[in-house]
Amino acid sequence: MSKIKLWEGRFSKSTSEIFDQFNASIFTDIKLFEYDIIGSIAHVKMLAKCNIISKDEAKLIETTLHQILEDFKSGIIEYKVSDEDVHMLIEKELIKRIGEVGKKVHTARSRNDQVTLDERLFCREKNLYLQELVKRLINTIIKLAEENIDVIMPGYTHLQKAQPILFSHYILAYAQMLKRDLLRLKQNFNITNQNPLGVAALAGTTFDIDRFFVANQLGFESITENSIDTVSDRDFILEMLFICAMIQMHLSRLAEDFIIFNTDEFKFIELDDSFCSGSSIMPQKKNPDALELIRGKTGRVYANLIGLLTVLKGLPLSYNKDLQEDKEFLFDSIETVEMSLIVINEILKTLKINKENMVNSCKSGFINATDLADYLVTKGIPFRDAHFIVGNIVKYCIESGKTLEDLSLEEYKRFCEKIQEDVYQFIKIETCVNRRKSYGGTSLESVRKQIDNIKEFLKNLE
Ligand code: ARG
Repeated sequence: MSKIKLWEGRFSKSTSEIFDQFNASIFTDIKLFEYDIIGSIAHVKMLAKCNIISKDEAKLIETTLHQILEDFKSGIIEYKVSDEDVHMLIEKELIKRIGEVGKKVHTARSRNDQVTLDERLFCREKNLYLQELVKRLINTIIKLAEENIDVIMPGYTHLQKAQPILFSHYILAYAQMLKRDLLRLKQNFNITNQNPLGVAALAGTTFDIDRFFVANQLGFESITENSIDTVSDRDFILEMLFICAMIQMHLSRLAEDFIIFNTDEFKFIELDDSFCSGSSIMPQKKNPDALELIRGKTGRVYANLIGLLTVLKGLPLSYNKDLQEDKEFLFDSIETVEMSLIVINEILKTLKINKENMVNSCKSGFINATDLADYLVTKGIPFRDAHFIVGNIVKYCIESGKTLEDLSLEEYKRFCEKIQEDVYQFIKIETCVNRRKSYGGTSLESVRKQIDNIKEFLKNLE
């Protein structure tokens, strides 16, 4: 009895080639090859332990699966559209090599639980790798902050100069975002780390299997509770896609900041040549392509999340073939975020910080106006009134082409009698930064505390 398709018993004619092409997921899910093998080995060991197949049969299947994996890794396993998907390919290969015994591998199992098992194994591994990449980036940020701990730059709101801040404080903002991403990944790991195998097609199986045994072998923390939910559920993937979208969004904001800071207008940083490219026409150009790509790829990563959410919307229980579409979204987001994390880490490690330009930029834009208002408050003026007075002073400065530091005491007194000689010390840029000692603020002291805390957080993860 030779069969082209493993499921064709019920069919009286072969499927259309057009349909075969449309139906096949092999060129995408081939990425799950190794996970499928690992899952099948755990499955047959369980079948033998539960006396559903013999120990010898299980052993033969196991060694053959190992060989198939070896052959796959050395690139000699060929696959084509008619193989349909990775599960069919491996089962076909097994049967080709060991005949009748190979046909027993699919006892008490369905592709419906098999595919989600493979995906859970894949996501688990990728989750851990992403955690490593995120941690690595946080460490690079900490290093950059420490090396430039007291560099002053303008802080922006509405992309207008707002108040002076420390560059270290600014860059550590991204460490906090990534810290939350890390926590999200950890949580996602827990919901992913459950064994789905053994729920079979949707209703469980008539065989006396041991799902806990499989879970144990594959290192799953627990097993799924409801067979119908298990074959229908892609929450763990959706959540991963959301985390990817979140990480990519964070990287995109950093990319945008650095694209701006790298312009001739700002010159706060200089990107290393190794992460920029030139123009085919304008010889002077050095473009921040790597950062632009991180920003641009964010669109795709968002689309993947929305794409799978849409596939799942209104999908009746339990398994439907629509679910096969999940993999392209997943693989693409993971790959994109991995690459982006690696690239941005290198960019941070190689860029140059132009300290002088950053601090000089604080000299214009009345960046110390809030501090002048705070000064008036220390002289007993209510903040709202102080705000108004300083507004008037700024208007006067703009009209007379002066900065707040340029004004004489006599000019100051025209606006407020209470202003004394000590005002000049109060509105110095360094003073503005270092007086912001509130928890989480930009003073050197607060930033040092912030660095200690994030280091402690990373240490406690180990
Ligand atoms: N290739 C399928 C997928 O990725 C595997 C499961 C097929 N199940 C089925 N009942 N046809 O979802």
